[in-house]
Amino acid sequence: MRDALGQVSTVLVLGGTSEIARHTVQALVGRGLEKAVLAVREPDRAERDLVELRSLGLIVEVVLFDADCDQSVLEGVDEAFHLHGDFDLVFLAFGVLGDQRSLERDPAAAARLVRTNLAGAVVAGLAVAQRLRAQGHGTLVVLSSVAGQRSRRSNFVYGATKAGLDAFAQGLDDSLVGSGADVLVVRPGFVRTRMTAGLDPQPFAVEPEAVATAIVEALRRRRRVVWVPAALRWVFALIRVLPRPLWRLVSSR
Ligand SMILES: NC(=O)c1ccc[n+]([C@@H]2O[C@H](COP(=O)([O-])OP(=O)(O)OC[C@H]3O[C@@H](n4cnc5c(N)ncnc54)[C@H](OP(=O)(O)O)[C@@H]3O)[C@@H](O)[C@H]2O)c1
Repeated sequence: MRDALGQVSTVLVLGGTSEIARHTVQALVGRGLEKAVLAVREPDRAERDLVELRSLGLIVEVVLFDADCDQSVLEGVDEAFHLHGDFDLVFLAFGVLGDQRSLERDPAAAARLVRTNLAGAVVAGLAVAQRLRAQGHGTLVVLSSVAGQRSRRSNFVYGATKAGLDAFAQGLDDSLVGSGADVLVVRPGFVRTRMTAGLDPQPFAVEPEAVATAIVEALRRRRRVVWVPAALRWVFALIRVLPRPLWRLVSSR
């Protein structure tokens, strides 16, 4: 249970091998975190994270979870709460970037990406919210993205899923008012993780450690939205009002 100082003792990570989530879990060790449950689709891929997190003194367990299948999402969330009890934090950290040009050639693949990033997130978010409401406490941390703030030619399918996810997360937070539970919406820019490996970094690119630090600070301050880096909040306030031809020109570089 999150104590009076806001310290977190238990976390559930949906998308348990996410690099951003792993760095955030690591940042919470030493601040009272005792147990992490990683919900993953391929347990073998979580092996390295398990070893690393256990070496820090954390109790770590794994449950199966595939965001592409409603039944798996519901069972994964059920199993995590049933076996491990309350969670102070739940990370909605799964997602795929995809290759925009390939998605344009293969609309069915684009629909699958939407299925994972948005439909999967809606099922998981609603299932977790029921649990947090029943507990009367807990924060759902949703990994949105600045990509959802204004779509760009180079990743507009992904951007559309993040726009939907961001809207969903804000509404879910509103629905939790008075329950003791809440939602933190995280809007990173370009983060150097395996998701972006091989891509040219965008301006304001950060390491996953910076996202972890910002999330921990936002939790401490009980914020509802955090931009990483913080300057992107003002950059996107401007970008949102740029005339489309100008945005097209700037964003294609
Ligand atoms: N990196 C960035 O620049 C950036 C910027 C803004 C927002 N974000 C968002 O932050 C979140 C984490 O990204 P990251 O950078 O940490 O990337 P990452 O290390 O590639 O993590 C992505 C996670 O999603 C999981 N996943 C993908 N499809 C899944 C499915 N069908 N079911 C269950 N899990 C699935 C992956 O599991 P597997 O190991 O099984 O593949 C992995 O755990 C994502 O939502 C991403 O969109 C990232």
